[in-house]
Amino acid sequence: MRVAYLQFAPIFGAKKENLERVEHFLDGAKVDLVVLPELFATGYLFESRTELMDLAEDDRGETLTSLKGLSLKFNMAIVAGVAEKADVGCYNSCYLLDNGEIRSKYRKIHLFDREKELFVPGDLPLEVIDVRGVRVGLMICFDWIFPEVTRILAVKGAQIVCHPSNLVLPYCPRAMITRCIENSIFAITVNRVGTEARAGIELRFIGLSQVVGPRGEILVRAGETEEVLRVIDIDPSLADNKMITERNHVLNDRRPEFYGDLVESTLSQRGPHTDDTGVASSHPE
Ligand code: ACM
Repeated sequence: MRVAYLQFAPIFGAKKENLERVEHFLDGAKVDLVVLPELFATGYLFESRTELMDLAEDDRGETLTSLKGLSLKFNMAIVAGVAEKADVGCYNSCYLLDNGEIRSKYRKIHLFDREKELFVPGDLPLEVIDVRGVRVGLMICFDWIFPEVTRILAVKGAQIVCHPSNLVLPYCPRAMITRCIENSIFAITVNRVGTEARAGIELRFIGLSQVVGPRGEILVRAGETEEVLRVIDIDPSLADNKMITERNHVLNDRRPEFYGDLVESTLSQRGPHTDDTGVASSHPE
């Protein structure tokens, strides 16, 4: 499968211009699957919920309409992060489109920092979709710090995880190498570049978009500031080999009977030696 990432610097609020730039980058590319950054059409640093709602769209909005058209025109599946307007508020979503249709939608479940004041947390299950014979899972940016996300996608059979991002912390590109090794999957992490200075805040996005293979190989990685469409051929079936040694299968060797605390409430996740305030107790029962 020929996959690609498009790392670029969206201009805040300039949806039409950002969409035109995406079209320009994709024009003439021969790829099966391209991944764009999180919130690629709107930009990231919204001043307020009102501003976000004004720029957000539902599935019939101009951004989705345009992406549907591009998937048809260029015959490629597209994964892209979009601010999704809904009755309850706005989700930080990403869509998978192919052949002029929305194939899947994921709403970010782990909101980062100020996103908690702006977006509604995601409410859809993590799912794996067949794209041109390849099993693809979706996650968004800060989901990287929760290994459960890539794990559940791998358990559900994903061969490739598509990961639109707006990274500002330095850790993710390195962490995704581990996510790939521990699940034996491919990951396409796509960040934006540039800076945004709004709402009294300035953010610099770190670039370093990458495609990582199932043994943690960095197959391609972008620079910190360049705008680039990078295309690479990968063999998704390599992700079906879960044997890390002759005797160790990264999924089947798990011991879920020891992991029950992972799915208990937040309170119990503070650990057995803490009281209700989360303060360490000297008298654990
Ligand atoms: C992020 O989740 N946009 C850092």
